[in-house]
Amino acid sequence: MGLIPDDIIAQVLDRCDIVELISEYVTLKKAGRNFKACCPFHHEKTPSFVVNRDKQIYHCFGCGAGGNAIGFLISHDHMDFPSAVRHLAQKAGISIPDTHSSASSEALGERDLVLKANESAVDFFHDNLIKGQGKAASAQEYLKKRQVKLETARKLKLGFAPDSWDGIITFLRSKNMSLSIMEKAGLIVPREKSEGYYDRFRDRVIFPIFDLRGKCIAFGGRTMKAESGAKYMNSPETPVYAKREHLYGLHASKQAIARDDHAVVVEGYMDFLTPFQAGVENIVASLGTALTIEQIRLIRRYTRNVIMLYDADMAGQMATVRSLDLLIEEDMHVKIALLTSNEDPDSFIQKFGVQEFRQRLSAAQPLFDYKLGILLRQHDGRSVEGKARISAEMLTTLAKYRNEIVRSEYLKQLAHALSVSEDALRLELKKIGVTPTAEPSIYARQHQKIVRVVERDLLKLILEDQETAVRIQEEVTLEDFQDEQVRSVMAQIFHLSQHEKTISVAHLVQHFKDDETLRFLSELAAASHLVAGDKESLKRDYINRIKSDRLKSQRKNLCDEIHQAERTGDHARLEELTQKFNQLIKG
Ligand code: CTP
Ligand code: MN
Repeated sequence: MGLIPDDIIAQVLDRCDIVELISEYVTLKKAGRNFKACCPFHHEKTPSFVVNRDKQIYHCFGCGAGGNAIGFLISHDHMDFPSAVRHLAQKAGISIPDTHSSASSEALGERDLVLKANESAVDFFHDNLIKGQGKAASAQEYLKKRQVKLETARKLKLGFAPDSWDGIITFLRSKNMSLSIMEKAGLIVPREKSEGYYDRFRDRVIFPIFDLRGKCIAFGGRTMKAESGAKYMNSPETPVYAKREHLYGLHASKQAIARDDHAVVVEGYMDFLTPFQAGVENIVASLGTALTIEQIRLIRRYTRNVIMLYDADMAGQMATVRSLDLLIEEDMHVKIALLTSNEDPDSFIQKFGVQEFRQRLSAAQPLFDYKLGILLRQHDGRSVEGKARISAEMLTTLAKYRNEIVRSEYLKQLAHALSVSEDALRLELKKIGVTPTAEPSIYARQHQKIVRVVERDLLKLILEDQETAVRIQEEVTLEDFQDEQVRSVMAQIFHLSQHEKTISVAHLVQHFKDDETLRFLSELAAASHLVAGDKESLKRDYINRIKSDRLKSQRKNLCDEIHQAERTGDHARLEELTQKFNQLIKG
């Protein structure tokens, strides 16, 4: 990977607006000079997350997360550093020179080309459908039959793949795409018996799958015929698509999920589409797989609350429930909603309406209750063996809860439901071994920094006024800062100012990779109450304080040495030290 030049990074930081960027993820409300929101990095009910436009930083006073725009993308969207810079550069219209020097940068080029092919393909399929090209009437008819509105088809960029062996090939060829990229994108398939390729998706309604940024990474295609081959055909794994890492619809629903603070998870394309169109916008589809850890973590960026809404056939229920233990391990709150048997979310809404559907959602049961309910139907809860079977199953779930209080509350309920003693259950639970209860570190307000007020506030002044940084170096040295963290930040500031570089928090945080320093800096920059009063005189006071502290500590060191010399009877040394001491108090 070619390194992105420093000056481009600086330019990107200057040109992008963090308020605009973060608004894409959470709803920011103006609050004085800051913008406020509920923190996207931890769950909270009252906003403690602030974004500051002047300083181009964000900080959460609740969990301590903080940094600049690049840092936000890295933490929130799990981008790596170069992708975050590129993403912002693209928004700001800055072009970054591409370096094709190493293998990984070639791989990057290939990813980009595959994305480009997908992007053109989305347009091709979508235009076909909307403009009724290439016998798209059948697809329009099909969607109409399934009550899909034109507006929804536009929003989700649904499309139509014509009934042809070379529709997409011809189109992408006209856009100068190579066959090998089309193949890597999974859009075409090599012929088995002869040279050449053919279109993967033919005579199907197309559901493009987008990533969080809205880039098309894969496709699903539904046949319109009742009985012919696979009902759905999907893109294979490609350089930009791993099935287990994505959720269908999340790009369109993420804001609603954050807003409502819960996500409804369904299985199929249409099970996403129909509720979404009917106004249940906080929804995603796992596309026929059991939820994976990666998918859970995607959801967790927006909420910790999940309602699972899988098909109600008894067959898969227990299997579903087992897979849900994963959600608990990831510290999510899981509920399960049930529809009438033989209905999926799409057909349920068509039959009973969205009101009834919402009713089912609000009647969703916590995973614990739901699982216990199933087990009580499967086994005899009054027989000894039944009790043992049920408690064994329930305890495996219980052991996954990280929260001690939740766990002990459920233990109580389980004991009650089975009429067994809590102590016995607790012993059994111990045998299973409880997963560690350590909360993720960001949830602890741990290591609150205690920095000398002068050092902290002087640093804040410097961060607000570039001039101060330059002039202060004539009066104080790095050694004057007792706090190691402040000192390392000051060292960077001195360094930057000597090279006549911009010193702003947004630039500065770029040089620190450890969370603690980032947190410290963003908090400092976001805190508006710290430095009130006449800045010039405050600055004077702080500098004087620091200087006098320096004197004090030098004096103390000298005194210690003098005592030492007295004790050992080193007269020459004593003489020398006394002279030094006199000079010090005079100067
Ligand atoms: N699926 C698939 N390939 C298949 C069948 C199913 O990829 N041959 C995936 C699709 O994502 C589908 C989901 O599994 O949406 C659920 O499958 P199913 O319940 O069989 O289909 P529905 O979603 O009900 O599809 P439809 O309503 O269009 O019939
Ligand atoms: Mn269906």
